[in-house]
Amino acid sequence: MVSDRKKLTAVLGVTGGIACYKAVELVRLLVKDDFTVRVIMTHGAREFVTPLTFQTLSGNPVATDPFDLTQESEIGHINLADSADIFVIAPATANVIGKIAAGIADDLLTTVLMATKAPVLIAPAMNIHMYENPILQENLRKLRRVGYYFIEPTEGFLACGYEGKGRLPEPENILAEIQRLLRKKDLADERLLITAGPNREPIDPVRYISNRSSGKMGYALARAGLNRGAAVTLVSGPTALEPPAGARLIPVTTAAEMRRAVLEEFPSCTAVIMAAAVSDYRPIEYSSTKMKRGKTPLELRLEPNPDILKELGAKKDGKLLIGFAAETDDLAANAKKKLREKNLDMIVANDVTQEGSGFDGDTNIATIVDRSGASRALPLMTKDELADQILDHLLALKSRR
Ligand code: PMT
Repeated sequence: MVSDRKKLTAVLGVTGGIACYKAVELVRLLVKDDFTVRVIMTHGAREFVTPLTFQTLSGNPVATDPFDLTQESEIGHINLADSADIFVIAPATANVIGKIAAGIADDLLTTVLMATKAPVLIAPAMNIHMYENPILQENLRKLRRVGYYFIEPTEGFLACGYEGKGRLPEPENILAEIQRLLRKKDLADERLLITAGPNREPIDPVRYISNRSSGKMGYALARAGLNRGAAVTLVSGPTALEPPAGARLIPVTTAAEMRRAVLEEFPSCTAVIMAAAVSDYRPIEYSSTKMKRGKTPLELRLEPNPDILKELGAKKDGKLLIGFAAETDDLAANAKKKLREKNLDMIVANDVTQEGSGFDGDTNIATIVDRSGASRALPLMTKDELADQILDHLLALKSRR
């Protein structure tokens, strides 16, 4: 598919799980996409598929043993690490993920991985209970924190007989993720100010009003921006997410705090993307002690919060302003109204009543509307994919300026 680029090298680590057979197809797809593919197999992987299969498909010798003198003189573990434009482990077992997270390098795969400077994409595949195991989840969080990329396992029938999350994604999807990670750094000149997550507006020391935003959309934008070379400042309401490695995180709680942080960062950014679900209202009165339960109905009086994006739209200052619109009805009309009223360059409208769209999930269904009135309805996709689409639009808008 990619013809006008220099030939890139994918080093593929294959570990011992039944999904090894899908790694064979992945090698075929990578070669077809003009990658040089160099495969490293663990001992466990060789119990499932022979090195000859990978060698035949990749056209390169398969590396297996760090202490094999012939392999070391012909391939060399440092040479392998240096040759990678991307390092992929698919399938990745719980064992290899645990070893990497612990800094163990006791076989060829973990040793080469330790020495590489290339981006690393890990595709876990295992039994659902292993995947949900808190130790594995802690290891995934640790590796995300230090900058490793993951492609989530999919749900379905597992070889162990269970149904659930744990299947290796289809090789086409792993290839698409590899291509996404290797995109050129087309945002290297951008300083993105991104907001994410909900606000919490306190009622008393233990209660607050908030909304269902998880922060996933904003964090996906931050990851995509970083991956494409942008400097990213992420102003985030409270979330349970790991901050993307490399982003400057400014944690906030209330809409007023978010406004303060955004206004402070605004002068030094080139574009703002407000994916946060800013609280439109806050309680007028705050009780400094826990409010007691009573027998009569309780009335909470709320006052509106300032509209942060509208305030930025009034300044503008040559920056590109991108808003989101979470709608439950009349998607396009409401989005266009917000775009106009807030003086935005683009708005991403999501119908939050649709299955797979809006709050909390890993996917979204959005329509992108720009200042010219042009709108593009996008199908269901992951928030990571949508983030890239939004950034593509941002670049297109810039080029038209
Ligand atoms: O976080 P997730 O769980 O991944 O969910 C993603 C999302 C649904 C929160 C996201 O896709 C989204 O739609 N974010 C905007 C939600 C929202 O507040 O929409 P709105 O239509 O109320 O606001 C319009 C725009 O103005 C938004 O860009 C908002 O950030 C901004 N705004 C709103 C109110 C306010 N007081 N100040 C603002 O700046």
